[in-house]
Amino acid sequence: MTVAGVDSSSILSGRRVVLGVTGGIAAYKAVELCRLLVDAGARVAPVMTEDATRFVGEVTFSALASEPVRRSLWEGPDPIPHTRLGQGADVVVVAPATARFVGAYAHGISDDLLTATVLATRAPVVVCPAMHTEMWEHPAVQDNLDVLRRRGVVVVPPGEGRLAGGDVGAGRLAEPADILAAVARVLGPADLAGVRVVVSAGGTREPIDAVRFITNRSSGKQGHAVAEAAARRGAEVVLVTTTALAAPASATVVRVDSAAEMERAVLEQAGSADVVVMAAAVADFRPKAPAAGKLSKSDGIPDVVLEPTPDILAELGRLRRPGQLLVGFAAETADVVGRARAKLVSKGVDLVVANDVGAPGTGFDHDTNAVTILGADGSVRDVGLRSKDAVADAVLDSVVACLAARPQPPADAGATRRNQ
Ligand code: PMT
Repeated sequence: MTVAGVDSSSILSGRRVVLGVTGGIAAYKAVELCRLLVDAGARVAPVMTEDATRFVGEVTFSALASEPVRRSLWEGPDPIPHTRLGQGADVVVVAPATARFVGAYAHGISDDLLTATVLATRAPVVVCPAMHTEMWEHPAVQDNLDVLRRRGVVVVPPGEGRLAGGDVGAGRLAEPADILAAVARVLGPADLAGVRVVVSAGGTREPIDAVRFITNRSSGKQGHAVAEAAARRGAEVVLVTTTALAAPASATVVRVDSAAEMERAVLEQAGSADVVVMAAAVADFRPKAPAAGKLSKSDGIPDVVLEPTPDILAELGRLRRPGQLLVGFAAETADVVGRARAKLVSKGVDLVVANDVGAPGTGFDHDTNAVTILGADGSVRDVGLRSKDAVADAVLDSVVACLAARPQPPADAGATRRNQ
C-alpha cells in the first residue's frame, strides 16, 4: 500500500503504535488491524478497556502484538503506565472507539488507562468510531467528534453495513486496511513543509432574494480533506470554504458564501500561494439582480435572469505568478476525462482532477470518491474508489511530483549575486 508516494511498510517500520481497543463488537476487527500493523513493521502496544475484553480475549492481542496487553492504571510495578505509553508512542490509534470513549476523550475525562493515555500523549491520535446508527448520528457523539477534530485528532469515519444484532446502517468500523492507510498517512512524510497551499471547498450560494439562493450538492468534504492532508504534510494552509465543517487546527480559514466572495478571498490569498487547489463547486450562474427583501408569492413567479459568475480558476490561470501550481477539479457525468482534459487547457492549469459525480459512491456529499488526475505534462493517474482522505493524498502526491519537476533556482543564486 502506497501513502504519500511511499510504501506504508517503510512509513510504519519501527514506529511505536499504541492500539487502543474499546468495548464494541467491532473489537474483533481490531485483531486484523493489529496483525496488519505488525506485518507493516510497527511495534504495537495494545491497550484494552475492561469492556473490550468481553468481546475479544486479551491473549489474542498479546499473541499478535509486540507487547502484552495492558488494561489498567493499577496493574504491574509501573505507577504511571499512561505517561510511559503516551510519551513513547509515535501514534495512538483507537479502533473501535465507542461513544463513551469519544465522549470521555472530548471532555478530558481520564477514568481508565486508555483515556489517560490519549490525554498523556503529544503523538497524533487516530480515532475510529464504531457503534449503532442511532448512536453514531446522535448530536452528542457528532459534537464530541467535532471537538476532537478541531483539536487535530484524525477521525476515520465508519462505513455502512451490517451491525450487531442484524441491523444494517452507518456505524460499522472502517476496514482494517483503510485504518492502516490512515495511520500511515498520519506518520507519512512532511513533503509539503514550507509550501503555502490555498484550498477552496464547498458549493457557493447565489442569492435570489433575501431568503432564497441557488446552490449545488457540494458538501465541502473533498476540499476539507485536501486541506487536512496538506496541513498534515507540513504545508501552510489557507482554506476558503462555504461550509462549517471542521478545518485543520493549523489552517487559516476564510468562510465565504457566494462566488463573488470566494473570488475575492481566493485571489487575495493566491497572491502569496505556491499551490492553489480549487475543489469548490463554484456556481456557473447567478441571479443578475437579487431582490433586497423577500420576494412575495402573491406577486407571482419571479422572472429570475441569470448571469455568468467569474471563473475564478481561469482568472488564477491568467494571473499566476512564476512557479505557482494550479489544480482544478472537474465535476462531470459524461465523457468525464475528455471534458476534464478540455478544462485543463481552457483554464491553463497544471493538474485537473476529473471527478465522475454520477458513479456510485463518488462525488458530491459521499465520504468516498474516485478520480482521474490529469497533468498538463500528459500524465494520467487513476485513483479508484476510496476515502476522500486517500483521494486528497493522491492529489497531493501529484502536486509534490509537479513541484519537484519544476526547474529549481540555482542553490546559491543570492550568494553569487552578492559576490559580483
Ligand atoms: O464537496 P463534496 O461533496 O466533497 O464533493 C466534491 C466535489 C464533487 C465538489 C469536488 O470533488 C469537485 O469535483 N469540485 C469541482 C466542482 C466543479 O465546480 O467542477 P466544474 O467542472 O464546474 O469546475 C471546474 C473547475 O473550475 C473547478 O476547480 C472549480 O472550482 C472551478 N470553477 C468553476 C466555476 C467558476 N465560476 N469558477 C471556478 O473557479
